[in-house]
Amino acid sequence: MTVISVLSLKGGVGKTSYALGIAGAALKRGLSVLVIDLDPQGNASSILRSRKRSHSAATVLGHPTADTLRESISKTAWTGGPGSVDVLTSDPELIRHDSWTGSRRFVPKLARALKRLEGYDLVIIDCPPSLGALTREALAASDLAVVVTTPSYFGAQGAERAIDEINEIRATVNPDLEFAGIVLNRLREKTDEHRYRKRELVEIHGSGVLLKPTLPERVALQQAESTGEPIQAVKSAGARDISKVLDKHLNKLLKMAKRTETDAST
Ligand SMILES: Nc1ncnc2c1ncn2[C@@H]1O[C@H](COP(=O)(O)OP(=O)(O)OP(=O)(O)O)[C@@H](O)[C@H]1O
Ligand SMILES: [Mg+2]
Repeated sequence: MTVISVLSLKGGVGKTSYALGIAGAALKRGLSVLVIDLDPQGNASSILRSRKRSHSAATVLGHPTADTLRESISKTAWTGGPGSVDVLTSDPELIRHDSWTGSRRFVPKLARALKRLEGYDLVIIDCPPSLGALTREALAASDLAVVVTTPSYFGAQGAERAIDEINEIRATVNPDLEFAGIVLNRLREKTDEHRYRKRELVEIHGSGVLLKPTLPERVALQQAESTGEPIQAVKSAGARDISKVLDKHLNKLLKMAKRTETDAST
């Protein structure tokens, strides 16, 4: 089971779109996927149209055992197969678990509950737009961390802070965590400013840092979100562009996870 966190300090850059896009690509490929919605806004839970249960990610953080986790997972409306997508839903109560102050030692809870979970090939954690306790929970439980950003001045700064956080978690509670790369989203290659920001990211973080190809700006992602379908189910040229990119990213992420697993066992 591979666990991937999708994070950024900045809001609205495409974390949820990317997390669900990768879930949709894995669904199409026959994988068994669990999405964990750790954002109190609950956008991923709404888009997946889960069958509502009384339990949520907040329940699991309050009582972090494998049994509570299993009981809290819901089925979703993404049943187009050949794989499956389940969800651990968000709820507004989650905000109470984001108030880590740094004065107490951080003891990861989600990681503990996930350790004995079986039956999934891929777990994707959609983080809130902050680097608080919920994002730390996600990173502590993950094999890979993907940072999403947009080609803008504050996008580059936000990516840097998110990478610092990943390094911090690796140095403290999760030595197995690997930084998978930056997803540059909503790129318009014809715009000078966007090309400049892309170059800037590469200059700061090195040429291998961008997960390629970059994700273009396509309205199909907004359509998919409003109808609650995977982008792979939307019939338009824009949706096909995005789906192709996501498929390549899924290949890379699975390959990285396999390499990490092999390294850990040798
Ligand atoms: N490549 C894209 N092209 C066009 N629209 C996009 C693209 N990526 C994301 N969007 C749209 O931008 C909006 C914000 O995206 P999304 O909700 O995925 O961001 P987020 O980082 O999860 O936000 P938050 O920080 O609030 O959780 C959504 O309406 C989404 O459909
Ligand atoms: Mg989101």
